[in-house]
Amino acid sequence: MKELCQKEIAYESGFNQKRPIALVRGKGARVWDAQGREYIDCIGGHGVAIVGHANPQVAEAVAAQARKLLVCPGSFCNDVRAELLTELMRIAPAGIARAFLCNSGAEAVEAALKIARLVTGRKRLVAAMRGFHGRTLGALSVTWRREYREAFEPLIPEVSFVPYNDIAALEEALSGGDVAGVILEVVQGEGGVIVGEGEYLRAVQGLCRKNGTLFIVDEVQTGFGRTGRMFACEHHGLEPDLLCLAKGIAGGVPMGAVLIHERLGKMPPRKHGSTFGGSPLACAAALAAIRFILKERLPQRAAELGAYFMEKLRGIDSPAIREVRGLGLMVGVELKERAGPYLSELAERGILALSAGATVIRFLPPLVISREELDQVVAALSEVLP
Ligand SMILES: Cc1ncc(COP(=O)(O)O)c(C=O)c1O
Repeated sequence: MKELCQKEIAYESGFNQKRPIALVRGKGARVWDAQGREYIDCIGGHGVAIVGHANPQVAEAVAAQARKLLVCPGSFCNDVRAELLTELMRIAPAGIARAFLCNSGAEAVEAALKIARLVTGRKRLVAAMRGFHGRTLGALSVTWRREYREAFEPLIPEVSFVPYNDIAALEEALSGGDVAGVILEVVQGEGGVIVGEGEYLRAVQGLCRKNGTLFIVDEVQTGFGRTGRMFACEHHGLEPDLLCLAKGIAGGVPMGAVLIHERLGKMPPRKHGSTFGGSPLACAAALAAIRFILKERLPQRAAELGAYFMEKLRGIDSPAIREVRGLGLMVGVELKERAGPYLSELAERGILALSAGATVIRFLPPLVISREELDQVVAALSEVLP
């Protein structure tokens, strides 16, 4: 394993800060390293592995589609793409009528920002402090953390950041009537698993409508059952103008999407596009993943198991814990100290978890994880904390 990691570290760009573990196989909520060591995976490819690793239905759909047709540009129609779009419209929040298909979360955000400018004819954007929307130049422009942004400035101009969960600040930011779009997460993931308040999110939607501003909800991390509903918007009855999706949409195959509200109408040809967006391979994988999510009622499972998991975590008696919070199976344990050293100790005990900011341990397990596996996660955490 050491040799394998050395090779990868030598030849990769360096942008990824590597852990010295080489993962080579997965099944359900578990992964195995090159030496055959087993882990319960609460990283899930940063929230991607919603339907579990090596999901047989997704694997079968990918293999069958690869044998049939891998390439079909957006300028032609395709059977699986038409079927996926129909399925997306069926499960989408009320009012959604169209979708743009792309390949990642950042691409979905880029498309949403461009659509906001295109439709409103305005330039300004408003985003939230602690928000994260991706690392391409547009998405980075609405991402809060200075460490990610500063080497790349100037980014797109006329972006303001407002405190999250603060209605008055948002009202003030929109008052000039010149904002193209407000972009928010329903639960801020990278920012520390900060749960948006329903009253706040509904007020944002109302203020956007009043000011002719598009309400862009970024559900790249919260979508497809993660928070206990198919889309986190549904917890609060939100009807965003644009809904950004990616991560688990295609069971692990790269894909992103922007769902577009009916009231925005059809987009003009050639103003945006993507070579690989909506490839038959990704569409076939997404259809299989969405059908699995529905059949196994994974949103409900996330709601039940998330509540169970958080209750158990809250039962850990440790002076290091400041707060346990989350929604569904998107869970953060905020510590009074740095999270990093505990992530290594958890990995030594066969549990993979990630951080969200400096002090939060974040759990984004596949939604197929069992109660017993969650019990093991809780036991390991209580062992490593003081
Ligand atoms: C809320 C949110 N938006 C956008 C992104 C960017 O997605 P990607 O890494 O697929 O570009 C992420 C990634 O973690 C995310 O959590």
